[in-house]
Amino acid sequence: MATVIIFGNEKGGTGKSTLAVHVAVALARQGLNVAAIDGDINQGSFTKYLANRSSFVSSTSQAALPSPTFISHEWDSMSESELARHLTNSSADVVIVDTPGALTPLSKTLHSFADLVVTPLNDSLVDLDVLADVDPDTGEIRKPSHYAERLWKARQTRAARDGGSISWIVLRNRLSALDAHNKRVMADILDKLAARIGFDVGPGFGERVIFRELFLQGLTLSDFEDRESGLAWTLSHVAARQELRDLLALLAEGLSRDLAASDFEPG
Ligand SMILES: Nc1ncnc2c1ncn2[C@@H]1O[C@H](COP(=O)(O)OP(=O)(O)OP(=O)(O)O)[C@@H](O)[C@H]1O
Ligand SMILES: [Mg+2]
Repeated sequence: MATVIIFGNEKGGTGKSTLAVHVAVALARQGLNVAAIDGDINQGSFTKYLANRSSFVSSTSQAALPSPTFISHEWDSMSESELARHLTNSSADVVIVDTPGALTPLSKTLHSFADLVVTPLNDSLVDLDVLADVDPDTGEIRKPSHYAERLWKARQTRAARDGGSISWIVLRNRLSALDAHNKRVMADILDKLAARIGFDVGPGFGERVIFRELFLQGLTLSDFEDRESGLAWTLSHVAARQELRDLLALLAEGLSRDLAASDFEPG
């Protein structure tokens, strides 16, 4: 049965699609059979990113660019059992699903099929608001909010359907080198929340121009690691690559149960 990894957050523009492509490609590079599904029907960034990759591969004969298999369907008009057939019963080892920055009916259903949800947050207290209502003066957590409740419901739906559980990783994206105070406050609140609402805090990603530059060619950081790809590696990629490796290592840990049979090793 395929392992389903969902990139989700009720907030837009936090890096879901960017990280979904990076993880999908990195896992494909490790020899896993990876399927890609875009649950963001309107925006379709995941679709476009992977389409750009296909065009780049065919226009430059970059044979050494392993890629996920993009699966296209009218996801939003499917019944739950049809979705289940495409997700968990897929012949892929891993299904990577991107979702929109709003909780559409499709996104809610997709979340309930997850083995693992990855939630990138912009490094701001405004973004933290989707997870918890935090007292602005004391930093005290008053109560979990929308997206945390959604995860809780998804976990209940999943448990009732097949007795399975959903792991959850929350990580900060676009970390600025400058704002040390905000970083500390965020880290502190996230740690408290992790224990309270049940997620692991993942390694963060810095604010790096490289992420915006790769989209048009559909490339990811892992593509630059492979000498056969013919792509030039520069020093500016090194820190970003390490961040990606750290995330892959955490995913491998979270998914070791599901991927034990697949020779999965963090890159
Ligand atoms: N670590 C980063 N450093 C710099 N830019 C980044 C980083 N991560 C993502 N971006 C850029 O931020 C923008 C939003 O990223 P992305 O589209 O992946 O977010 P999203 O959560 O999928 O958004 P949406 O909710 O609209 O689908 C893009 O321009 C992307 O290139
Ligand atoms: Mg997106």
